[in-house]
Order: sequence, then C-alpha cells, then structure tokens
Amino acid sequence: MSAFLHQRPIHNPFTDQDPVSPRSSSNSQRPISIFSPTALLILLSLLVVLGVFLPWAGMPDFIFSSASPSLSKWRHYTLAQAASFVAKNGTVIVCAVSQPYLPFLNNWLISISRQKHQDKVLVIAEDYATLYKVNERWPGHAVLVPPAPDAQTAHKFGSQGFFNFTSRRPRHLLHILELGYNVMYNDVDMVWLADPFPYLQGNHDVYFTDDMTAVKPLKHSHALPPPGKKGRTYICSCMIFLRPTTGAKLVMKKWIEELQVQPWSKAKKSNDQPAFNWALNKTAGGVDLYLLPQAAFPTGGLYFKNLTWVQETKGMHVIIHNNYITGFEKKIKRFRDFGLWLVDDHALESPLGRL
Ligand SMILES: *[C@@H]1O[C@H](CO)[C@@H](O)[C@H](O)[C@H]1NC(C)=O
Ligand SMILES: *[C@@H]1O[C@H](CO)[C@@H](O)[C@H](O)[C@H]1NC(C)=O
Ligand SMILES: *[C@@H]1O[C@H](CO)[C@@H](O)[C@H](O)[C@H]1NC(C)=O
Ligand SMILES: *[C@@H]1O[C@H](CO)[C@@H](O)[C@H](O)[C@H]1NC(C)=O
Repeated sequence: MSAFLHQRPIHNPFTDQDPVSPRSSSNSQRPISIFSPTALLILLSLLVVLGVFLPWAGMPDFIFSSASPSLSKWRHYTLAQAASFVAKNGTVIVCAVSQPYLPFLNNWLISISRQKHQDKVLVIAEDYATLYKVNERWPGHAVLVPPAPDAQTAHKFGSQGFFNFTSRRPRHLLHILELGYNVMYNDVDMVWLADPFPYLQGNHDVYFTDDMTAVKPLKHSHALPPPGKKGRTYICSCMIFLRPTTGAKLVMKKWIEELQVQPWSKAKKSNDQPAFNWALNKTAGGVDLYLLPQAAFPTGGLYFKNLTWVQETKGMHVIIHNNYITGFEKKIKRFRDFGLWLVDDHALESPLGRL
C-alpha cells in the first residue's frame, strides 16, 4: 500500500515528535491531494476565514482534523468506553505507548496475538499521533487520557519527562480497576512466549515479577521478597496483574501517593518503580500480594545475561522483558540477536499490520 511509503523509518524515532503535525499524523491515505498547491490554497483561505475560531485549537491541529475527519472522533473516546469495548471476560490488557515506541508495541502485539489474547488489548496512547495511528489500523483499541504529556520530554529514561510519563501509569490502572475490570499491565519492550493467564492462579489482589537478577530456586516463595540494599524490594513495575479489589486499589492509591512524596529530582533521576515498591512495602500487611515464578517471568538482567540459566529453564519462559539495557537501537539489536524481534518477518500477524 502506498500509505506505507510515507511512514517514517523506525530507526530514527526522534526526528518527528510534534504530536499534531500533519507529517507525524497517521493519515497518509491522500498525501498528494493534501499537499497539492490547490489544496494548500484552499486550506490557507479556510484558515484565514476560520482563524478567529482557532486560538484554542492551533493551526496544525486544524489541518490534522480536516485531513482525517474519521480519526478525530477518537479524541473524545473515554477510558470507560474503550475498556468496555475491549474487555473480554472482565479483563483488559493495557500498555502505555508514545510514538517512538510503536515498533515495540507492534512486536509485543504479534507475540500476544500468537497467544490469542490480542482482542483484550487496550493501548493507552500518550500522544495524539499514537491514538490516531492505532485506531486507524485497529479501531477502538487505543484511548488517550488527557492531558497528553509533553512529547518532547517524555522519552529519555531517567529524565523528569520520563518520570512524569510513567507517573500516569498507576492512575490509568486505578481508573480501570474502579470501572470493575481485571487488568494486566505490560511494558511494550516485552515479548510473550506463552500464555501468562494460567499463571495468575488463586484470587490474589496483585501479581508481579521480581526485577532482581539473582537466580532463585524453581519453587521459590510467592510472597513479597525481603527488602534489598536500599531498604526496599526490586519488584518490576513492568508487568502487573490486578483484580478489581479493595486491596489492589489501595496499592495503586499508595503508588500515586508515593510518587507525590518522592518526586523526581536531578540527584535521584528515578522512575516510577521505587514508588511502586514502597507502595507494596506499606500495604503488604493488608493486601494479598503474589510474586510470579522467576523461571516464567525473568528480568532481562537474567534472561539476556545468563545463558546457563536460560538452558536450565528451557520451556518455562512466558514473558521476556528487554530491560537492563537502555536505548531503542540496543533493545532492538538484542531482541534480534535472541530471535525475539518479530516485526521484521511477522508484521502481518499484528492487528496493526506493518507500521
Ligand atoms: C474467564 O475467566 C474465568 C475466571 O477467571 C476463567 O476460568 C475462564 O477460563 C475465562 N474464560 C475465557 C474464555 O477466557
Ligand atoms: C513534570 O511534572 C511536574 C509536576 O507536575 C512539572 O512541574 C514539570 O514541568 C513536568 N516536567 C516535564 C519535563 O514534563
Ligand atoms: C518495609 O520496609 C522496611 C524498611 O526497609 C522493612 O524493614 C520492612 O521489613 C518492609 N516490609 C515488608 C513487608 O517488606
Ligand atoms: C547463572 O545461572 C546458573 C544456573 O542457574 C547459576 O548457577 C549461576 O549462579 C548464574 N550466574 C550468575 C552470574 O548469576
């Protein structure tokens, strides 16, 4: 399809981040008519006529909406509407994605489609370009909870923008719990090798995985591990399953609170994970927590670094997280090296197709 020719190359995600510019928008069905001199002239005259109505919307936004009236309706799609549309069996699987992560989103979606759980995936778009792109390809599966974070500053790991971006996560999750759904959250630099749902046994409030690299016995305890060096645990905020219980909601509220009392600082350059761990620590007495098995849900610091362990636990791996490494290029290379970068050869298995 000619539309694909107009997509930006995935290896340079930072060249174009304006979330409302027509160039970064997902609509490239009629690029020639949009940019032809006649069309531009008509647009310009329209802008002059309508200029007075636009101080709140902005010109690029106006161009965008006029170029894709069918997409602009998603602007007002709410989390409640989206969750009720995608939920299956009372469960939604969510991720939070901004435009530079779209290739990772697609990789993750391919792996989920292979386990036949893609229908309940809801993409929480953190910019309008992502909202429109996903809904254009896969209507109803993306929602944006306003206000959209500042796209220019949201991506660099350790930055305040990144902190602000990840701080939205517990709010989204709490909202979905309050709507009454079970919710699984995943970072999109993950790949499913098997179906995780059979591992969510029992009726615990919160299920999570350990981010520590030390090898545990195969039948380790499912309790919250003891605190580490910094006085807290190293549970990953990357993969969480929550039931819509009072306990799970309490953990999300505590997480939001912890993010507020320990905001980002230049010295600490933290992300949202320490706050999640403090929330678990402080609610542990009253909430039913469940640590998932390491062999099934290993941290990237173990899976990608200890090949002996990978051999020993062959056939037990369920979700692989490409963490303990920063940078898009490095993550993609590592996925490729381990045969986990599926978008090269299997893009058509994604509900989004080739991006
Ligand atoms: C629906 O959820 C129940 C309880 O969690 C589970 O036992 C069942 O297998 C699920 N059904 C489907 C179709 O996913
Ligand atoms: C992050 O959020 C804080 C508090 O809301 C705000 O003051 C700051 O400008 C934001 N910074 C970035 C880079 O988004
Ligand atoms: C919570 O953290 C404190 C301080 O590190 C520690 O003493 C306590 O054991 C932790 N509680 C739990 C339930 O992990
Ligand atoms: C790697 O895995 C092996 C097998 O489980 C384990 O004995 C060893 O301690 C691990 N190495 C490191 C550096 O953790």
